Amino acid sequence: MVNAMKRVLVFDSGVGGLSVLDAVAAAGYALELDYVADNAWLPYGLKSDADLRARVPALLARLAQQWAPDAVVVACNTASTIALDAVRAAVAVPVVGVVPPIKPAAALTRTGAIGLLATPATVRRAYTDDLIRQFAADARVVRFGSAALVEAAERKLAGGEADPAAVREAVEGLFAAPGGAEIDVVALACTHFPLLAEELKAAAPRAAVWLDSGEAIARRVANVLIAEPGQARARRAGFTDAGAARGAFPAFAARGFATFAEIGPAPAFEASPIADRGCA
Ligand code: DGL
Repeated sequence: MVNAMKRVLVFDSGVGGLSVLDAVAAAGYALELDYVADNAWLPYGLKSDADLRARVPALLARLAQQWAPDAVVVACNTASTIALDAVRAAVAVPVVGVVPPIKPAAALTRTGAIGLLATPATVRRAYTDDLIRQFAADARVVRFGSAALVEAAERKLAGGEADPAAVREAVEGLFAAPGGAEIDVVALACTHFPLLAEELKAAAPRAAVWLDSGEAIARRVANVLIAEPGQARARRAGFTDAGAARGAFPAFAARGFATFAEIGPAPAFEASPIADRGCA
């Protein structure tokens, strides 16, 4: 008997979850991959905790009903660090979240100085403080929050140029901060930022290890689903503002997504297919 492929729903505010989806696809498991971007609400890093805690579980509960995934990946640090428990309570299937890679960063640093690059919301979260207390109490963690870098990643994936000023500002915010000259590991704690890894490395004043959570999430998903080895297949991508997402459709098509959907407004979050998806 051939088992149906397990289906994973990857979720982010925008294109950032593609860095996680790429890691899941590269991990070599037979998984069907759906994607949802709540880009009508982008950027999450400037939204209030209360707003995110209300919206994200409601949206994912509806999408899980409509698309019937076997697991949901909250591929967004900003949402995971505030709403993961609420999503788990709202969704019947296993939920995998992404949290700042503080633990592996602390294990890797030789200088004891770690850079933490995240959204303005994630850098100041109690969740992040707890991770640092728990795993990096002996390290010096230099934090920098950037919403401009989220925007830069969105622009890059839509075929434009990632704003060099945003990249420069983020790099300076880490390496030019007190203690920053010693940084040898940077934890990328927003899923948009690995999409700018090349730009960030090129702008940095010294070599460092740039860490993200993609591979760890991919391993976790495979374990949770007891996935079979094989090839992942992208299927359907939905957006809460399909018009604004159009520029990024080619980036999704390049990853194998063939069906595009518009997710209607709260509370129904009704997914309807887009007939003309504006890319060949
Ligand atoms: N990609 C998201 C994260 O990992 C957040 C981007 C945003 O601010 O919307 O934190």
